[in-house]
Amino acid sequence: MELNRRTVIAGAAAAGIAASTLGSAAQAAPSATGSSPGRGKLLRELFGRLADGTKVHRWSLENGGTRLKVLSYGGVVQSLEVPDRRGRHANVSLGFGALDDYVASSPYFGALIGRYGNRIGRGRFTLDSRTYQLSVNDGDNSLHGGAKGFDKHVWDVEPFAEGSDVGLRLYRTSVDGEMGYPGTLRVKVTYTLTRRGEWRVDYEATTDRPTVVNLTSHVYWNLAGEGSGTIEDHELTIAASRYTPTDAGLIPTGELAKVAGTPFDFRRAKAVGRDIRAGHPQQVRAKGYDHNWVLDKGVTARPEHIATLRDPRSGRILRIATDQPGLQFYSGNFLDGTLTGTGGRTYRQGDALCLETQHFPDSPNHADFPSTVLRPGRTYRTTTVHSFGV
Ligand code: GLA
Repeated sequence: MELNRRTVIAGAAAAGIAASTLGSAAQAAPSATGSSPGRGKLLRELFGRLADGTKVHRWSLENGGTRLKVLSYGGVVQSLEVPDRRGRHANVSLGFGALDDYVASSPYFGALIGRYGNRIGRGRFTLDSRTYQLSVNDGDNSLHGGAKGFDKHVWDVEPFAEGSDVGLRLYRTSVDGEMGYPGTLRVKVTYTLTRRGEWRVDYEATTDRPTVVNLTSHVYWNLAGEGSGTIEDHELTIAASRYTPTDAGLIPTGELAKVAGTPFDFRRAKAVGRDIRAGHPQQVRAKGYDHNWVLDKGVTARPEHIATLRDPRSGRILRIATDQPGLQFYSGNFLDGTLTGTGGRTYRQGDALCLETQHFPDSPNHADFPSTVLRPGRTYRTTTVHSFGV
């Protein structure tokens, strides 16, 4: 870690430093960290190097009681700390302490996912009478953008402070044909920490040829703290009356099934573990929950509240608002005790869960699902807001 080269901007938001000058201020003015409640804070340090020597930086942000650490590699949320009911902070997202682990074996911990969140059946779709073959990396299917998705690239990162917010803008250009997808896709993702400690994610993308796009974030939540054990006691609410059942490869069959009377009903707060062993064929297939919930609100112009996660032990609460039509709830089924996380503890099945706001999996092959097509001249825009409380 090159601590001597770290760059710190303390109280940048409160001081009203313009976003454009922040980058150069960061390079020029190393200073002490020091936490000042309510004042946004940003810091950059070298996190590691890829095999080819490319530097990966880690940005630390703090605002409104939330502390966020983000890697330029994959836009990874490496750590996200929020207070419990007694004001004690814990890192509530799974991750690793070293870059090598992210490169070698990360199941998308905290990463930005693109070009397409979740699966596309047989990695194939047809758009405007042309069929595209994508990178296949999950059995017969393409998962999370293919073998080298957005999670495995180094992004350009630009810090900003605007009003009382601090944040990062992450940029990358995905060239025409990358992982089989048509069109040069220019992507900008903005992570904002607000003065109330919310973590807001704004995604934007444009293309020069018709394509499909479905971006999301793959944070693994454990509100009791990463490495502290199972999330089966966490209570979850999802504002969805239907979900999309899947085939053996976890590709939606096309049916929108009712959650009523099934283990998939989270319309009222329910412990994640309550029905997880109910033996429903869909759960047996997925080894737990790994499905897309069809949000009752549908696509909306603005983010609306769609899910609440609460850990009764610590009192920590996460509320999610989105403009997207779907939520992939994945109960950490593939964590198998082979990965050791940030705090030096192993992660076992069900030690975290993901709540990925997005369009439905395999939408390019389902004409009746909300469309994920992006055409030249249009801008893909979507927002998800994570609010924390006790
Ligand atoms: C998503 C998928 C899961 C799994 C995880 C990553 O949530 O739905 O099936 O692939 O990502 O392990």
